[in-house]
Amino acid sequence: MTSILSIQDIHKTFEAGTINENHVLRGMNLEVEEGDFISIIGGNGAGKSTLMNTLAGTLLVDSGDILLEGKSIKTVSAAKRAVDISRVFQDPKMGTASRLTIEENMAVAYRRGQKRGLSWGVKDSERKVFKEALKELGLGLENRMKVDTQFLSGGQRQALTLLMASLVKPKVLLLDEHTAALDPKTSDMVMDLTKKIVEKDKLTALMITHNMENAIEYGNRLVMLHQGRIVVDVKGEEKANLTVQNLLDLFHKNSGQALVDDEMML
Ligand SMILES: Nc1ncnc2c1ncn2[C@@H]1O[C@H](COP(=O)(O)OP(=O)(O)O)[C@@H](O)[C@H]1O
Ligand SMILES: [Mg+2]
Repeated sequence: MTSILSIQDIHKTFEAGTINENHVLRGMNLEVEEGDFISIIGGNGAGKSTLMNTLAGTLLVDSGDILLEGKSIKTVSAAKRAVDISRVFQDPKMGTASRLTIEENMAVAYRRGQKRGLSWGVKDSERKVFKEALKELGLGLENRMKVDTQFLSGGQRQALTLLMASLVKPKVLLLDEHTAALDPKTSDMVMDLTKKIVEKDKLTALMITHNMENAIEYGNRLVMLHQGRIVVDVKGEEKANLTVQNLLDLFHKNSGQALVDDEMML
């Protein structure tokens, strides 16, 4: 099987040649198969967000290559990559335009990759599609389509952002601690929605989480980063049977280090 996304020996150094030189990605390799739902964990500063930035194109790699469906995208602009790669951030404010309504935000997402912007307003045919999609969230947002998103809660905004990220099926969905700013109950709600959307649309998704239990519970594959490299990569049956203790043991075995307690939330 060929990979949908192939990350090949990528390196990234910040502030090269200065006293603050920081070699963050140190030869990262990952073959992502179509339909993989990969949870990514690693301590603070392990390079998780940097990895996503290099995939989304907001940062360029220093060396190595990134292939999407077999074609190198490493020099493609972030705007062009956004047609195929959608992204949800930690901050609920990042995903939607506050002063646009729910339906206007959805229209922007729906027209991703097309030349036409919002100039012709939201069409009735589009509104119907959006309403059906919103109903599936189960949050009642289908009755508030003309409300600006600034009036929604953080959880509602993240749910809407997820829906927008998948309205036009992306080749890859990137989730960077997208529930970390939410209270535990809302976080669980958004995680469940994530699972539902990924499964329903058969998405290929990479999800960074700080929460080991979430990483174990969700996805078919789990990757752990340490000092800019992948030190754990478990999938299938092994992933399904994984426990926190297994994971700590695997980390210890492969990195030669023990995890500091507060490095990750359990
Ligand atoms: N744009 C940047 N410029 C300089 N240093 C950066 C930049 N982005 C990240 N870093 C540094 O790279 C390291 C890894 O950061 P990051 O990938 O955000 O870690 P995390 O695994 O917590 O998401 C950190 O030491 C961080 O300070
Ligand atoms: Mg991060």
